[in-house]
Amino acid sequence: MSEFGHDTTADQVLEGKDLSGKTVFITGGNSGLGLETGRAMAAKGAHVILAGRDQAKLDEAVSAIKGDVPDAQLETITCDLASLDSVHAAGAEANERFDKIDLLINNAGVMACPKMHTADGFEMQLGTNHLGHFALTKHLMPLVEAGTGTKGSGRIVNLSSRGHHIAPVDLDDPNFEKTEYQPFLSYGRSKTANILFTVGLEKRFADKGIHSFAVHPGGIQTNLGRHMSEEETEALVERIKTNDPNYEWKTIPQGAATQTWAATAEELEGKGGLYCEDCHVAEVDDTSSNGGVRTYALDTAVAEKLWAMSEEMTGVTFA
Ligand SMILES: NC(=O)c1ccc[n+]([C@@H]2O[C@H](COP(=O)([O-])OP(=O)(O)OC[C@H]3O[C@@H](n4cnc5c(N)ncnc54)[C@H](OP(=O)(O)O)[C@@H]3O)[C@@H](O)[C@H]2O)c1
Repeated sequence: MSEFGHDTTADQVLEGKDLSGKTVFITGGNSGLGLETGRAMAAKGAHVILAGRDQAKLDEAVSAIKGDVPDAQLETITCDLASLDSVHAAGAEANERFDKIDLLINNAGVMACPKMHTADGFEMQLGTNHLGHFALTKHLMPLVEAGTGTKGSGRIVNLSSRGHHIAPVDLDDPNFEKTEYQPFLSYGRSKTANILFTVGLEKRFADKGIHSFAVHPGGIQTNLGRHMSEEETEALVERIKTNDPNYEWKTIPQGAATQTWAATAEELEGKGGLYCEDCHVAEVDDTSSNGGVRTYALDTAVAEKLWAMSEEMTGVTFA
């Protein structure tokens, strides 16, 4: 059982650990939880690759981390997850530039945007949060495989959310062509897809020593709320507090803790296909609004159908 919990920070998770020699690839590494995860891991000697869609923001992130960790080993790579062309190019570039990835943290995300589409015509939240990461992970898998074989390597962490409680995936209407678009319904579906992707990865790659985890980081005030007005955010917090009167925002260092824990915890060695929150593996729970993972998000048959649909939509096939 983890000694960590809701208030633990990423630095506390890594206390006493040495990540030198490890290469960590973090999508959405320029902002919020991805940036803090990169900073905390760089401070422990990891070679950190920050991926983002805007080089100027990546440069700012590098300066911010170097301000705190002057000898940080950092690299950046541009990748717009809302464009398969960009994902394919980033995948090819990563394979040229890097020898291996020990820890892949699929952290980037967009929440509750208005109805929008990716360059390839996918609904934006499923397209960015799941399909973009699906295609990118396929490209990066040779590097992740190259990273296996040493202790503390071979992990993939997919940022999900308690928002997955909102809805299962809809394999018949992934792009909201038949269903009326609702920003949070779309977010919930995409975050369920992140967990099902984790289940599918574990099934395919566990025997190669690659284990995958989905993470709910907590509620943290980052740029993720950019599509919500202040009133909408307040109303959301009120709704959450109806179910959980003790609800409190986490700080960004606390919010980055669970993905850092899922990527590095020794007690998770050899395990995978699991959903984590507050630095522990969550219980399956189909009723609580305050925690746990829904059965539908771990359903292996649905995970297989989503995998097949994702391959068909992206044109990317895992060998
Ligand atoms: N904060 C929370 O309360 C919370 C709760 C549950 C789950 N999560 C999950 O945690 C993860 C990190 O979120 P955060 O809170 O740190 O939010 P954030 O500060 O908004 O960071 C999100 C990151 O994703 C990037 N991104 C968005 N669209 C992209 C695209 N098309 N291509 C490449 N990168 C893209 C953003 O890049 P730009 O800076 O260029 O936009 C940014 O770097 C997300 O997956 C989110 O769903 C967060």
